[in-house]
Amino acid sequence: MEKGVPIANLFGDEQKWLGKTVIVQGWVKTRRDSKAGVCFIEVNDGSTLKGLQVLAEEDKNYAGLLAKVTTGSAILAEGVVSASPGKGQRIELRAERIHLYGSADPATYPLQKKRHSFEYLRQIAHLRPRTNTLGAAARVRSRLSFAIHQFFQLRGFHYIHTPIITASDCEGAGEIFRVTTLDPTRPLAGGVSEDPYRGDFFARPAFLTVSGQLQAEIFALALGKVYTFGPTFRAENSNTSRHLAEFWMVEPEMAFHDLGDDLEVALAFIRHLVEVVLNECEEDVEFFGRFIDSELPARLQNAAKSSFEVITYTDAVDILKRSREGFVYPVEWGIDLQAEHERYLTEKVFGGPAAIIDFPRALKPFYMRVNDDEKTVAAMDILVPGTGEIIGGSQREERLEMLLEQMRLKGIPADDYRWYIELREFGSAPHSGFGLGLERLVQFVTGIPNIREVIAFPRTPGHAEF
Ligand code: 4AD
Ligand code: MG
Repeated sequence: MEKGVPIANLFGDEQKWLGKTVIVQGWVKTRRDSKAGVCFIEVNDGSTLKGLQVLAEEDKNYAGLLAKVTTGSAILAEGVVSASPGKGQRIELRAERIHLYGSADPATYPLQKKRHSFEYLRQIAHLRPRTNTLGAAARVRSRLSFAIHQFFQLRGFHYIHTPIITASDCEGAGEIFRVTTLDPTRPLAGGVSEDPYRGDFFARPAFLTVSGQLQAEIFALALGKVYTFGPTFRAENSNTSRHLAEFWMVEPEMAFHDLGDDLEVALAFIRHLVEVVLNECEEDVEFFGRFIDSELPARLQNAAKSSFEVITYTDAVDILKRSREGFVYPVEWGIDLQAEHERYLTEKVFGGPAAIIDFPRALKPFYMRVNDDEKTVAAMDILVPGTGEIIGGSQREERLEMLLEQMRLKGIPADDYRWYIELREFGSAPHSGFGLGLERLVQFVTGIPNIREVIAFPRTPGHAEF
């Protein structure tokens, strides 16, 4: 197969390529015919937002196939990189040869030149990566994934792979997908008295993981600093713009780190990721600023520079109670903060990202370390303007007696977590960690309002297409 030059490379060093003969391969974005027998074809290959203008002339030997070079078709163009007299680009390609890989019938091609709604594009998730917005979001997501590994690898963390199928419900919220090979339409042969798991694949209840944290703790208590980064699943029946049933989470876990250390790592992490996006996804960020969210560039600059506010849950509740904002959910100490409260704090009170720490014990899972007041736990939620919570983390309960008490209070059977308890019996040590939702992060750095646009194939209640 002939090898082309990524269009991003051409735009990256225009002087170097001027006068050179190159091949580009991609999809036709638009096509315009001039009266002078010249056809302007904009080709995009996904390497960058901008397409390359290809000039095709009707007296060349490819003239016969030009009629089929319509929006959406896949082509190869070979020619000389030339200075462009036109507006909007410095270089263009004067085509000497054009090859049509696959045409696209203009009458039926679902992506027309106009702006389509995100709802419509979700129905054509096999074609929407070719749009500017979805393509840019996919590039930013890719760059961020790499930056996540870089951040941890450069700081001595080990990348571990926690299981996707698990027997534990880390967050204890019961929002778990069951994994079974049993046929729900076939009753058990032995009737209702039969052990329902006897004939099942794992011979016990099994689920898709909601978090790799508990298993990451095992490795933190052996390798020191570790992280896991993979898909997680929640059967949360919330149809919101920030919830998915399948999403990607990054979870570092660190031995000999308390909540303050955890917070420091999390803030450095967010700042690093924002800087990478600002420095290395400039063109895409500029696009999002222009078409999706005009405040985005300023918000990112601010997040890269500003120090994050750190405030206790108790103080946050006081601020919310004193505010004159008419909240739908009334505020009292002990309530779970709602999206409206989070937005008020980050957007109106702090004007930037904020970390809330020390939440009521009753609100949080069994594994969080109980504070000396015995009413709160060493938890942290990091909130950003627009998106709300992007990170949830905590110092873990390393004291055996206290862990057992937490499990008793929350009704978690100790038998199911023998191994987790043993980590407190054999060489227990203070440790902390957090989870960052990749899609929430991509939303934050792109300004894309709905989480369904920052993942290729969104899974939400009632939707598992593609
Ligand atoms: O706050 P969460 O539930 O924390 C945990 O799962 C911990 N075990 C993490 C840890 O300490 N290792 O989830 C962490 C983050 C949230 O802050 C949010 O960004 C994201 O995961 N998240 C979701 N993203 C999309 N859709 C959902 N349904 C999400 N639920 C959580
Ligand atoms: Mg949370």
